[in-house]
Amino acid sequence: MDAKTMFKLSYGLFVLTAKDEKHNGCITNTAIQVTSEPNRISFAVNKSNYTHDQVKKTGIFTISVISEAADFELFKHFGFQSGRDVDKFDGFTDYKEAANGTRIITKGTNAFISGKVIQTVDLGTHTLFIADVTDMEVLSDTPSATYTYYQSNIKPKPAPKTEEKTGKVVWRCKICGYEYEGEELPADFVCPICKHPASDFERVEL
Ligand SMILES: Cc1cc2nc3c(=O)[nH]c(=O)nc-3n(C[C@H](O)[C@H](O)[C@H](O)COP(=O)(O)O)c2cc1C
Repeated sequence: MDAKTMFKLSYGLFVLTAKDEKHNGCITNTAIQVTSEPNRISFAVNKSNYTHDQVKKTGIFTISVISEAADFELFKHFGFQSGRDVDKFDGFTDYKEAANGTRIITKGTNAFISGKVIQTVDLGTHTLFIADVTDMEVLSDTPSATYTYYQSNIKPKPAPKTEEKTGKVVWRCKICGYEYEGEELPADFVCPICKHPASDFERVEL
């Protein structure tokens, strides 16, 4: 089997927001519409994400659809740090209130979908949430960002090396750029920043 096959699946990118004691959100790439009558969506969230616990607890959320106008800051803000450690809405002003009490991201997005969870499936590392859509609106005509668009146009490219190679080997996360130092990357390694598995890392000689 060719491990690269999974990269041929296409994905959108979203900010999943929720609220319990505080407002919070994380980047996810797994939201899809699963039925239209009734209108239902599903999304999978890593159990280590604070947003996971909030959605599990309250059943209430909003998914803001990231557009091609988004800059890398949005991904860093919601995807590279956890609400367990920081208040992501402290000083963050690019949002408006959703009817269900969560927050809609208004910059770098083109739509939002609010929902109520009706079922969860325990997938081990992740929980799959299935939800009824309770509100939705288009915010702009800018095309939605795909995962491939993020990789090619939004995520900064590593600086080209001009000096001679040092011979040092790192394993670089193709999703967020995190570098693991060492010749061998453990097979069960999970990126501490974006939580993607070892199969999303590439070997780079510096
Ligand atoms: C491009 C990108 C895609 C991501 N996709 C997912 C995803 O599909 N599911 C997930 O659980 N986390 C995903 N993440 C990781 C979370 O956004 C990240 O771990 C976040 O810091 C969790 O924040 P929280 O603890 O406040 O919920 C992604 C991150 C990035 C940068």
